[in-house]
Formats: sequence, C-alpha cells, structure tokens
Amino acid sequence: MPESDKSFDKEGLGNILLVAVSLCLVCAIVVSTAAVLLKPQQKLNQELDQKQNILRAAGMLPEDSNVDPQGRSIDELFGQFTVRAVDLRTGRFTDEVDPASYDPIKAAKDPARSMELSDTQDIATIGRRENVSLVYLKESEGGVDKLVIPVRGYGLWGTLYGYLAIEGDLSTVAGLGFYSQKETPGLGGEVDNPAWKAQWHGVSLFDQSGKPAVRLVKSRSPEGSMAAGYEVDALSGATLTTRGVQNLVQFWTGDLGFGLFLENLKSTT
Ligand SMILES: Cc1cc2nc3c(=O)[nH]c(=O)nc-3n(C[C@H](O)[C@H](O)[C@H](O)COP(=O)(O)O)c2cc1C
Repeated sequence: MPESDKSFDKEGLGNILLVAVSLCLVCAIVVSTAAVLLKPQQKLNQELDQKQNILRAAGMLPEDSNVDPQGRSIDELFGQFTVRAVDLRTGRFTDEVDPASYDPIKAAKDPARSMELSDTQDIATIGRRENVSLVYLKESEGGVDKLVIPVRGYGLWGTLYGYLAIEGDLSTVAGLGFYSQKETPGLGGEVDNPAWKAQWHGVSLFDQSGKPAVRLVKSRSPEGSMAAGYEVDALSGATLTTRGVQNLVQFWTGDLGFGLFLENLKSTT
C-alpha cells in the first residue's frame, strides 16, 4: 500500500460506521421530506375517496367511473351535498364540532365524546358510539332529496365501514356501500359485489311501528307482501357477514344510531 493511503483505511470500522450513519441520515431526510411534502396530496386523495364512496352509495356515481353519465366530476357532484354534524343523543343538528375536520370514528374511541354500549344495545358490535356524527344532505326546494349516513359494524373478520344512502322520504334505501371491510373475497367480501349492492335500492328501512325492519334472508317473502319490502338476499356461505350487515343497518337506523334524527327530520320537512 502506498504511504499516502495508510492514513485512510476504507475498510476500517470507523469508516464503515461513518458511511452507514451518513446513508441512514440521507435516507431519513429523503423519506421525511417526501412524507411532509406528500401529506397535503394524501389528505386530498382521502377526501376525494370519501366523496366518491358517498356518491356511489347515493347512486349518483357509477361503480366503474369517476364521472356521472352527464360528465360531472366527483367534486361537482359532491358540491350538491351539505355536511352537517348531528348529536345522536338528541337527534338534532349541532354546531358543537366543525364538520370539515371532525372524525366520528376517532370520537367513538374517546370516553368523553362517546358512550359505551351494553351487550344488548351493541348489536353492531362497535363497543362505543360517538355522541356526535356527520350526515350528508342533498336538498332541493321540495326538501331533502337524499341523506347519507356513515355506518359501521362487525362482520366475521373485522369491522365493515360504509355509507347508507336514504331517499328523500327518509324511509327508503337509496344505496349501501362499504369503503373498508376485511371479509373473505367470494364469501363475506361479496358485500362489494355490485349485483348484491343493487338490491338495496328501494328497500324499506322501517316497519309500520317505525322500528328498523331490514332483513337479510335466504328465501324471500312473496313478492308484493309487506315483508318483501324489507328484504335483501343473504350472502351465500357467509351467514356471519350477512348477520353483521343486517345488524349494522338496524343499529344505525335505530334509536341509538340516527333513528331520532330521522324522526326529527321527517317532522320538519
Ligand atoms: C377460509 C374461510 C373464510 C370464511 N369467510 C367468511 C366470511 O367472510 N364471512 C362469513 O360470514 N363466513 C365466512 N366463512 C364461513 C363461516 O365460517 C361460516 O361457516 C359461515 O358463515 C356459515 O355460513 P352458511 O350458513 O351460509 O353456510 C369462512 C370460512 C372459511 C373456512
């Protein structure tokens, strides 16, 4: 080795450590800069995704397109909705939270902003229910045109999160869609099958006494009968997911969900 290279031993421990630490530092800077720079875009994408899910549940956006048949974009279509906060304890609108930044699912984890459900109350197996939730209202001169509510409940493998869209009569389903679920593809995962989802359109939510009445059934009641109006086909080979979906729809349209709010809204429109 020439005399000049003796002082610089590139395979020495100190040098190896220096290179490793420098590389880690550079990578850490690159990753954190990317994370910070991409955060606003990620937030925008999340919001767009949420708008898309709400519009799909409401039947205003086809399953396979980002524009409606008239060519209107997600933002344009979602602009027809007003987002309002609702106090689920009173069934009334509230200004207690800012709907633009409020997260009902986060609130449900906070004992100060949610209630613990007893076993008999907790038919959707969610543990706690937030005090305040959000609704998405599409209004026209004649009153409510469509109302979309967030819903969630346990299936077989995890919680299904979605939106239930209700027609202006506040009693008939416009559509149901899940944006997050862990059920098995081909079994419980069929909750995402467009053909199964299409059956929800027109289903009656409440019986004559106003109680949640939706049933997921293996064999349908005779066509034209009152019972048939509440029915959707069960998912074959997925009894547990089916039960979960029935329970979550019944929970969120019941007194502990949006039931009081729906009653109040009916009486004011
Ligand atoms: C690998 C595997 C995955 C399953 N995934 C689901 C599921 O996502 N949802 C569900 O309800 N049942 C699922 N099941 C079936 C349940 O264990 C149970 O047998 C079923 O819900 C009974 O439905 P059936 O009465 O319609 O046959 C799965 C079973 C296996 C073996």
